[in-house]
Amino acid sequence: MSQIRKGIILAGGSGTRLRPLTDSVCKQLLPVYDKPLIHYPLSTLMILGIREILIISTPKDLPMLESVLGDGSRLGISIEYKDQKEPRGLPEAFLVGEDFINGESVCMILGDNILHWGHLKMLWTECMALTEGAYIVGIHHNDPELFGVIECDENQNVLSLEEKPKVPKSNIVAIGLYFFDRRVVEYTKMLKPSARGELEIVDLSNIYLRQRQLSAKFLSRGVTWFDAGTFDSLLDASNLVNIVEKHQGLKIGCIEEASFNLGYIDEEQLLSNADRYANSAYGLYLRSLV
Ligand code: DAU
Repeated sequence: MSQIRKGIILAGGSGTRLRPLTDSVCKQLLPVYDKPLIHYPLSTLMILGIREILIISTPKDLPMLESVLGDGSRLGISIEYKDQKEPRGLPEAFLVGEDFINGESVCMILGDNILHWGHLKMLWTECMALTEGAYIVGIHHNDPELFGVIECDENQNVLSLEEKPKVPKSNIVAIGLYFFDRRVVEYTKMLKPSARGELEIVDLSNIYLRQRQLSAKFLSRGVTWFDAGTFDSLLDASNLVNIVEKHQGLKIGCIEEASFNLGYIDEEQLLSNADRYANSAYGLYLRSLV
């Protein structure tokens, strides 16, 4: 069965909602407990089995992200970088990444999305085997009006999708993880900017929905998801990671551990990764995995 091989992390945007935190460093490099925010979506793509990754960010922030994450070889993956000149909307990632996508299906995750669930890989078997259509991912949320809202019938078929509606039709929101087939670039080129001047991810998904080619995966309770785009959610995410890591003694979003467990790097390479972090608790954790 063919598998999605390519993943995009959209890690740009102006970060204005987190100023002054983002005056000197971009949002995706802000700490979430013991590691930068972008490590979490990166580890999600890795756990899904994606090894070809494109990171898109602003011309200002891209060099810093590149200096932190490099070309991915120390993790046994490939990371490329491309800039998005202006934040013109989430689907623009597929235009910026057209050459990278090269006519294949692709997965996109937002650079501020944190997803934690032990059985992550199992859940996505169908999404990762996507050849026709698109998958979005829903989760129950207390404040649906802040997100894309999914309305579905009793058989979990998607009925409608709305971006930040004033009166949400359900409590199920779309997390920032999307799976699209090879037509995604063609369909993105058909989109027109919304009233707020951006290309909208719901408009793109709605093209698939109108063709009855949009499916949704719903995350059950027990799965943790954060859009770490506000002061509170950033702190909540840090607190959660701290609590889980302290009690379990296992890390969340540890890219080096993911790589080692997936067999992308061997013990020697893991130890050389650990050396980067010298004698920090993080470095010691990596050593303890060998
Ligand atoms: O996190 C899930 C939500 O993400 C979904 O429920 C919504 O449907 C989806 O529109 C999106 O909503 P946000 O309000 O979180 O979108 P925001 O504009 O904050 O952008 C999300 C991330 O993508 C953010 O880290 C900045 C980055 N970004 C955003 C835009 C518009 C870019 O890199 N380039 C862009 O052009």
